[in-house]
Amino acid sequence: MSDLLWQKPGVAVDAQIQAFLAGDDVILDREFFLHDIAASRAHAEGLQRIGILSADELTGIAHELGTLADDFRSGTFVLDERFEDGHSAIEARLVDRLGDTGRRIHTGRSRNDQVLVATRLWLKEKLARTQALCLEAAEMALQRAGAEAGVPLPGYTHLQRAVVSSAGMWWAGWAEAFIDDSQRARDTAAWIDANPLGSAAGYGVNLALDRDHATQMLGFGRMQVAATYAQLSRGKFELAALEALGSAMLDLRRIAWDLSLFTSAEFGFVALPPEYVTGSSIMPNKRNPDVIELMRGTYASVAAAKSEIEHLLSLPSGYHRDLQVTKGALFHGFGKGLQALALLPDLLRRMQWNPDAMRAALDPSMYATDLAVDLARQGMPFRDAYRQAADPGRWEQGDPQASLAARVSPGAAGDMRLDALHARLAALR
Ligand code: ARG
Repeated sequence: MSDLLWQKPGVAVDAQIQAFLAGDDVILDREFFLHDIAASRAHAEGLQRIGILSADELTGIAHELGTLADDFRSGTFVLDERFEDGHSAIEARLVDRLGDTGRRIHTGRSRNDQVLVATRLWLKEKLARTQALCLEAAEMALQRAGAEAGVPLPGYTHLQRAVVSSAGMWWAGWAEAFIDDSQRARDTAAWIDANPLGSAAGYGVNLALDRDHATQMLGFGRMQVAATYAQLSRGKFELAALEALGSAMLDLRRIAWDLSLFTSAEFGFVALPPEYVTGSSIMPNKRNPDVIELMRGTYASVAAAKSEIEHLLSLPSGYHRDLQVTKGALFHGFGKGLQALALLPDLLRRMQWNPDAMRAALDPSMYATDLAVDLARQGMPFRDAYRQAADPGRWEQGDPQASLAARVSPGAAGDMRLDALHARLAALR
């Protein structure tokens, strides 16, 4: 390992203790290494603006940071256990290539604000991806809501047959859900869009750092003003991001649940695209919906990441090394969550209904509510109408199209207000 930035003279490094301290930190730092490099570039420019670095020194640092980023992308440079963490690796590279100039890079910054700024930059990208994937899923659902509005589907409550519904209503529900999720990811990204660089170890630094310039250079919407809050918000903003992702995961879990029911022989309503189906090692007949089951299971990874971070945040103010553990949870949660979410739009585009099976599942009892409401509309008090309509002798197989068309309250089958959902979608694009 290269020299530790903080090593005390005369104290030898104990390998076992160092391994515990480092954990898998340097490997995790690969995830936002490029963001750490970008923030280092902004910090160097700030140092030049206040005379700590000369123009030539800045040119040298900027060049070496660019080369490091290229080498990392191409695999020529590997961020590994030779370094304590990604932050140390950047400084080590600059010192190696530029000598004393490299030794100036850490003036007025701390690994504490380095990790904060890299994490925020990384999360802005991940939330943008979350927003885009939810939007894609919503677009697909909305398109199919319009096209399949007239395809009857039983509506269930308690998993018991309730009223006539339609594929269009099912789709419209998911469209609105993923619009909400997309908006939540966008709003959360806007909340996270604040620059902590310059807060140093959490108490600022006795240098007139041009924080506004760094904020603008890194593309942040605003600055995190209080240096102390920059630290206090660690873990909290990761949690908010996981909550936004978790909202999409909640919907993903539920839609996967619907599909796993609907693809069973007992329902037989849906056929999945062949790539989404696997087999059994012993039962040659099996066609298993493993992909949607793993989509459903991904909720657990995101929820576990949230829970791990929540447990870690039981801390007084200021930096504590416990906070390092939030990174693994965050990366794992987003890695799994986005991998699952990325499969959703194509699945929604290609899954197929079996309208005959759906229609066959509509029985006369499912028109009883329509009957009660019809009687009430004609003037009978609803509770009396309800009693009359509860009599199975009055149940008749109805016309699902008529039942759906009569549902004219906004957002219901006859009036799904898809135009309003299209407008929300357009605003999020
Ligand atoms: N790997 C560390 C983390 O994620 C970086 C900050 C280290 N700061 C410190 N004071 N030891 O928290």
